[in-house]
Amino acid sequence: MPATTEPAAPPTIVILGASGDLTKRLLFPAIHRLMSTGRIDAKTRLVGFAMDDWTTESFLANLHDGVANFGDGVDETVWAQISATAAYVKGELDATHLGALTPLVTGPAVFYLALPPPLFGTAATALGEVGLSDETSGWRRLVIEKPFGTSVDTATALQAQLRTHWREEQLFRIDHFLGKDTVQNMLVFRLANRFVEAIWNSANIAQVQITAAETLGLEGRWRYYDKAGALRDMIQNHLMQLFALCAMEPPAVWDGEVLRDHKVELLRAVRSIAPEDVNTSAIRGQYVAGTINNTNVVSYRAEANIAPTSNTETYAAVKLFVDNWRWQGVPFTLRSGKHLGTNITEIALELRDPPMRLFTSAGLEVSEPNWIVLQLRPNETIQIDAIAKKAGLGLDTERIVLSATDTSAGGADYSAYEQLILDVLMGDPSHFIRGDEAQEAWRIVQPVLDAWTAGGEPLPYAAGTDGPIAPTGFFDHQRGWRTLSQ
Ligand code: BG6
Repeated sequence: MPATTEPAAPPTIVILGASGDLTKRLLFPAIHRLMSTGRIDAKTRLVGFAMDDWTTESFLANLHDGVANFGDGVDETVWAQISATAAYVKGELDATHLGALTPLVTGPAVFYLALPPPLFGTAATALGEVGLSDETSGWRRLVIEKPFGTSVDTATALQAQLRTHWREEQLFRIDHFLGKDTVQNMLVFRLANRFVEAIWNSANIAQVQITAAETLGLEGRWRYYDKAGALRDMIQNHLMQLFALCAMEPPAVWDGEVLRDHKVELLRAVRSIAPEDVNTSAIRGQYVAGTINNTNVVSYRAEANIAPTSNTETYAAVKLFVDNWRWQGVPFTLRSGKHLGTNITEIALELRDPPMRLFTSAGLEVSEPNWIVLQLRPNETIQIDAIAKKAGLGLDTERIVLSATDTSAGGADYSAYEQLILDVLMGDPSHFIRGDEAQEAWRIVQPVLDAWTAGGEPLPYAAGTDGPIAPTGFFDHQRGWRTLSQ
């Protein structure tokens, strides 16, 4: 007789910070869609926890609002299921109040900390103290979203707090870039096509430029942003992830832990920036008044709530070298800025010149570089710039672009949060940052943070442009930044 197995108990998703914007706008619409499309068990129970004086009814009303306004409409069958089991608990983030969750969470559960990052450590500890990290009655997972600390020291302290009651395998650190389809596509492009991996090395690649340019400004987030700046907000996490995935060694098996091992190995190989090299290895900029899409923009220091003396960088760039066989001598430049002239997120690899210039007489006086560009935004595109012969008599050449745009992108039938929440429930760590990975990323940017904290001023750039001019020494022999309007 076949052994009978108990059906797995449906999981509970506990959201701490359940009354906030993240829950309403992003988390709940994503969870609802995962249920309505049958990707997760419709019996998944939702429990909200926050300080607000709400009831289960007002929690549900807020969730309903979230799906109606930010999702794709309420699925009545799913809604009936959710309302039958949802619960709300009011309380502070301490063991006394969090203990009230214990009777509600009896099987496998996700604890999603939709809280301000300074509260991550406190919440993780208090949940552990009341036994909610204990996996005797089913798996328990804790989800937090960047930033994971603000420096090497604070990241180390946070890591220690998280690990007091939770094993590393229970921790899911979100960097929402890893939920994006193109980021995942990059690995497929690299590793499923032999012609790509064959040239993915210092013998063929002259430099790599990774850019995340935004026309957006502060968007009301001055309280966070003026303390963080572009280096902490974008480079230490999102761009570092793009860099790691682009440069890491190919894993031998498709496995989340192995993938993360390879990223960490790559980050460890990044040469530390010496204090005396910060000026030629990093750029900090701050926007001054300008025009974006015909709209005038005031300078950062004139923004509401920003001190007229603020030195916070709204643009940051770093130049990194990887001391391994594959990438010796190849500069990787990472840049990101607010209020630039356009929205572009891309990884661009410049190929070395051919060994000789056979067609100089054909008008190719200066050979144009070949670029391989993996673009996330505005379009999900893979593009290769090449030289070809112009049609007609004679041997004239021209630059052509081989380009494949994923036209289904944008219409993709899931969001980054859906992908990530699904992965948490499945226990797949591939798209999450491991503790040692976050630490290494902080190690890389820390010398720059230290130098910038010690003094000096950001370089001004007019809003709506490509950012500040790179100082002498930043680009050695390369041709400088790709223009953002390309
Ligand atoms: C966030 C940053 O993590 O990423 C924001 O805090 C930034 O400043 C955003 O605008 C960019 O994400 P996306 O998905 O819009 O490219």
